[in-house]
Amino acid sequence: MKAIAINQYGSAEVLQLIDVDQPTPNPGQIKVKVEAASINPVDWKIRQGRLKIITGNRFPRILGSDLAGEVVACGSQITRFKLGDAIYAFINPIQAGAYAEYAVMPERIACLKPKNLTYVQAAAAPLAATTALQALRDQGQLQSGQTVLINGAAGGVGIFAVQIAKAMGATVTGVCSAQKIELVKGLGCDRVIDYSHEDFTQAPERYDLIFDAVSKQSFSRCKPVLKPNGVYVNTLPSPSGLLQNLITGLTPGKKSKFVLAQSNSSDLDYLKSLFESEQLRSVIDRTFPLAETATAHIYSETERAAGKLVIIVTNQD
Ligand SMILES: NC(=O)c1ccc[n+]([C@@H]2O[C@H](COP(=O)([O-])OP(=O)(O)OC[C@H]3O[C@@H](n4cnc5c(N)ncnc54)[C@H](OP(=O)(O)O)[C@@H]3O)[C@@H](O)[C@H]2O)c1
Repeated sequence: MKAIAINQYGSAEVLQLIDVDQPTPNPGQIKVKVEAASINPVDWKIRQGRLKIITGNRFPRILGSDLAGEVVACGSQITRFKLGDAIYAFINPIQAGAYAEYAVMPERIACLKPKNLTYVQAAAAPLAATTALQALRDQGQLQSGQTVLINGAAGGVGIFAVQIAKAMGATVTGVCSAQKIELVKGLGCDRVIDYSHEDFTQAPERYDLIFDAVSKQSFSRCKPVLKPNGVYVNTLPSPSGLLQNLITGLTPGKKSKFVLAQSNSSDLDYLKSLFESEQLRSVIDRTFPLAETATAHIYSETERAAGKLVIIVTNQD
């Protein structure tokens, strides 16, 4: 099969189209013919070697955590899927393997594809939407009627966070650049702040939850605009941020937290119900053929994408 893999860490040039044997599912795993995969920043962070301490030096390494496709083989002990099922899945980035014509994964991290989504729309969602859900619901403990601010509302995680927060009954403020205002408004934000004209950390509004989806702010900057028991959640841990989380976890008042998305089928099931009831949609900035994955990485690294970048994995033969 064709796949995009790296044989060393480095710039986007190390992404190569290779021929490898198709993977075989172990017990508890399904094999999927991948129709589409999406790009997440963790893919290029792994490619650059920034997670080398965990990913080691085992090459070739096929990247990609998000996919949608069709089940073509089942290992033993598979109970939830059958051949021909259309699924979407979020594979742990350390295992990865989505930039390929075929991938295997545990059935516990896959879910039937939302019926009203194309494969491209479905592949855009798993990692980013799961992150948004777990940040708002689990770390932020968001309740209906609360006020939430999403920083980075136009990014892969942000587009889903805005919509999920609305579906949870919150009043939502989105923060983005001027070019993305109409996009973010269209996702259902009650208010949109253009960060080049207004610094929300200096404004009079107060929030129950600030989800810093792009981790461009900090707890100390956001603390003054949190309500008395408000929570700040970000997506990138720093040593000082982790210390802050520990301290605020032990003391009453405002909290600083970090989300580390965990793939599981029950959250994908919940997201499926939001897609099918049209409370959630994917926003796709661009699609790329598998062979042009390096171009997609270069674009993702600009941190300017509006929503998601999706790789269309067609049969290359
Ligand atoms: N911990 C986890 O489990 C986890 C999971 C997923 C993602 N992440 C991390 O979360 C971050 C965001 O991921 P993503 O997929 O959303 O990335 P992304 O799609 O690449 O984010 C791009 C967006 O960031 C926005 N942005 C850039 N600078 C900004 C700023 N100063 N203020 C507000 N918005 C800004 C851009 O909008 P404008 O052009 O409008 O500025 C753009 O739309 C990445 O660092 C990723 O690695 C962590």
